Amino acid sequence: MKIITLGIESSCDETACAVVSDGTHVLSSVISSQAGFHSTFGGVVPELASRMHVETIIPCVREALEVSGKSLSDIDAICVTKGPGLVGALLVGISSAKGLSEVSGKPLIGVGHIDSHVAANYLVHDDFTEPYVALIVSGGHTEIVYVQDDRHKEVIGRTRDDAAGEAIDKIARVIGLGYPGGPKMDAAGKDGDSSAYSFPRTFFPESFDFSFSGLKTAALNIINQATMANKEINVSDFSASYLRTISEVLVENSIKACLNLNCRRLCLAGGVSANSVLRKAMIRACEQNQIKLYYPPIELCTDNAAMVAAAGYLYYCKGVRDDLSLNAQPSLRQ
Ligand code: KG4
Ligand code: ZN
Repeated sequence: MKIITLGIESSCDETACAVVSDGTHVLSSVISSQAGFHSTFGGVVPELASRMHVETIIPCVREALEVSGKSLSDIDAICVTKGPGLVGALLVGISSAKGLSEVSGKPLIGVGHIDSHVAANYLVHDDFTEPYVALIVSGGHTEIVYVQDDRHKEVIGRTRDDAAGEAIDKIARVIGLGYPGGPKMDAAGKDGDSSAYSFPRTFFPESFDFSFSGLKTAALNIINQATMANKEINVSDFSASYLRTISEVLVENSIKACLNLNCRRLCLAGGVSANSVLRKAMIRACEQNQIKLYYPPIELCTDNAAMVAAAGYLYYCKGVRDDLSLNAQPSLRQ
């Protein structure tokens, strides 16, 4: 019999609900993005995000059930993002999931957001399995995790300052691309010259850690110097050069980790893995090093609920269950 999980995601500015069968087949995936609304403010306004989740979450759940052709009684588990994320935003999803679990009598499962990003790979790759190295790159995270099996998981590299997505969003805003910066910078750099501007790359010997603050400062210096000289930077070239630098650092550390661990499987996860420069560079590097690369389609890289339902299925199979004491864990580390 198939296990049907319902996923709910509200950790940041997407309200989402999805229904997934056996953690691998998406029956429905509804995403209501607030990005357009927050772009007026240049970034996510936490209180407004929570208020918008409150308005949209139940319609999202209703639509996800309708599209999937399932009713609450067909669902085996109600899975919800428990953290990390914005506390008020997370609480909306968690409260809704508790309500649904209470009325349906179905188990409640709180799911880690980072586990969900990685689990997106199960939705599209039949042969994706442990052991693997995961590069998790989002607005709040940049880490390399080695997953040996479902009980042995280790963060082997992490950023010592900014997340890659944060470094991209900040500079995108300064060069006038607005919010959300990642996709806008990706598009702006498409035909740009990626050697036009030169930025520092930071590596740490004997470590897979990252640092993007020096790069961010160097970018700000170039912009400030141009402003003082009454010159304009070329946004397309600047975007292409900046994204190339970030991608090269992400690729080099990920490949180094795979070779070091003698692990020939690498997966990408998180919003920044939607970036076209990173995807191309990683595909090339993996081919050169005989590493099998897994990455989700663009719509499953950024926040969605299908990945929550997929990760929830894995938790469900391991026997994980939560009760009404489930609470938001805004700073959850995996
Ligand atoms: O995973 P995600 O949707 O939310 C978090 O968990 O943080 O990731 C959002 C991040 C943002 O920094 C956004 O700018 C970045 O992912 N992003 C991209 C692209 N699409 C989203 N960065 C670069 N290129 C993209 N195409
Ligand atoms: Zn995310």
